[in-house]
Order: sequence, then C-alpha cells, then structure tokens
Amino acid sequence: MLRLRQRLQHKTIIITGASYGIGESLCHLLADIDCNLILVARTADKLRELKQQLAMCKAKIDLYAADLRDSQQIDEFIQYIQAFPIDIFINNAGKSICRPIMQSLDRLHDFERTIKLNYLAPVQLCLALIPKLKQSQGLIVNVSAINVLLAPTVNWAAYQASKTAFDQWLCCATAELQNQQIKVSTAYLPLVKTRMIEPNIAYKNLPALQPKQAALIISRLLQTQKRQYKPWWTIIAQLASVLFNGIWLILNRYYIKRK
Ligand SMILES: NC(=O)c1ccc[n+]([C@@H]2O[C@H](COP(=O)([O-])OP(=O)(O)OC[C@H]3O[C@@H](n4cnc5c(N)ncnc54)[C@H](OP(=O)(O)O)[C@@H]3O)[C@@H](O)[C@H]2O)c1
Repeated sequence: MLRLRQRLQHKTIIITGASYGIGESLCHLLADIDCNLILVARTADKLRELKQQLAMCKAKIDLYAADLRDSQQIDEFIQYIQAFPIDIFINNAGKSICRPIMQSLDRLHDFERTIKLNYLAPVQLCLALIPKLKQSQGLIVNVSAINVLLAPTVNWAAYQASKTAFDQWLCCATAELQNQQIKVSTAYLPLVKTRMIEPNIAYKNLPALQPKQAALIISRLLQTQKRQYKPWWTIIAQLASVLFNGIWLILNRYYIKRK
C-alpha cells in the first residue's frame, strides 16, 4: 500500500463505471490516498452515496454523471475536465450481453449499446485525454476481460466483439502512446461477482473473484505500471476454449446433418 500511495499521491485519476462493482471497490481502495478521483457513471445518486461514504477519506472526490454511450455527453465531460490535470485514466465502465444470435435478430441495439460503451466511449475519451496524459507522462488502464484472449465464445458476440475492439485499438496505439510518454496497462480479468454477471444463471456457481480482489489487481497495475495482468491459468483456458469451440462446431454440424 505504501508504494501505491507514493505512486498515486497528488495524482488526478478518472475512473469510469465507479458507481457499482469493480469500479466502486476500486474507489474504496484508492480513497485513503491523497489524490483526486474523478468518478463517472450514469447513476448520480449512487455516486453521491459513494462520495458520502468516502467523506472522511483523504482523496478529493469529484463526481460526473453521464451516459458514456452518448458522444455528446462525453464531449461535455471532456469540457468539464479541461480544468484538471489528468494523470491516470481507468477505463472501467462496461456492459455485457450474453444472447444467442437467433434471439438477437430484432436486437441491433444490443450491438450498438455494447460497441458504444465498450469501444467508442473509451476511444473518444483516450483521444481527448492524450494531450493531458502526455503532459503528465500518465497512464491508461483498461479493465478488459479474459474472454478477449480466448477463442470466440458462443452467445457472446456483442460483448466479446466490443471488448476485443477496444483491446485491439489500445494494443495498436500502445507504441505510439509510449512515444508520447504515456503508459498503457490492461487487466484481463476473469469472472467477477458483480451485478454484471447476475442475470446469467450459468455463472451462479462458477468460481469468481470478489470485486475487492479485482480492484486489488487493478491497483497493482497502477503501482507497477506493468503492461498487463492475466490470470496464471490463461493458457489452460485458451486451450480449453479452442477445444470447446471445436467440439461444439462438430456436434452442431452432426446435428444439422441429421435434421
Ligand atoms: N464482472 C465480470 O465478471 C467482469 C469480468 C471481466 C471484466 N469485467 C469488466 O469490468 C468492468 C466493470 O464491470 P463490473 O463487473 O464492475 O460491472 P457492473 O457492476 O455492472 O458495473 C459497471 C459500471 O459501469 C457503469 N456503466 C454502465 N453503463 C454505463 C453507461 N452507459 N455510461 C456510464 N457508465 C456506465 C455502471 O454505472 P451506471 O449503471 O451507474 O451507469 C457501473 O458503475 C467492465 O468493463 C467489464 O467488462 C467484468
């Protein structure tokens, strides 16, 4: 904690998706440091409640309620932060959708919502923040998902495509950003017990991190500024996902032929 404190002291940190889940836990973890947290999410009441809970902590907290799927609202947020020096941008706000394609035929909005929040919003924010991050020799932390490193998963087209899109964007931009003295870290998180996974009953009994553990992983990236975090068992999951996909395709073909 001491090293993290030293690293973040007097820094200004934007955290999107701060109202619930991993973002909220991260706020609790960082609030004891003498830094400036700018917290963004849609639910203004929840952000205010969080600020009240952290009122006795060292961090100075600014709140900004916005729907990050709306580029106009992002522009207004960018105007708002012009007054601040920005040292760290934590891209954490996200939306997941798990739905078969055949149940999505009249649901283009699923793909629009995920691509706007999980891809276009962080791109718009990064583009606007690059000059400030260059000035502060700052850091971008992307809260990504292990899914991005696995073989494409059935039912997850909307989420996986949008998370992968930003991951690719950031990977492509990393060398250019490093030339501007901006560092980039990505946390490829496994399953975390937040309201995001609640609708999916298949995940109910699967092992998952607690939001506090995920926040700790992100705080380690903030401290070490390492390029990435991924679970030690990622390679096993990658092999299993390829195998699963293959079996699924074979069974599917066999089933279609028999029909
Ligand atoms: N949970 C997991 O298993 C898991 C695994 C790997 C990666 N992740 C990633 O971790 C990040 C945080 O997810 P979480 O599990 O903590 O989910 P969560 O509990 O649902 O929190 C999502 C956060 O994003 C905010 N948000 C959602 N839509 C928004 C919008 N349109 N505009 C602004 N803010 C919005 C939410 O606030 P409001 O609703 O108040 O706007 C909330 O603060 C996501 O990027 C997710 O992809 C999660």
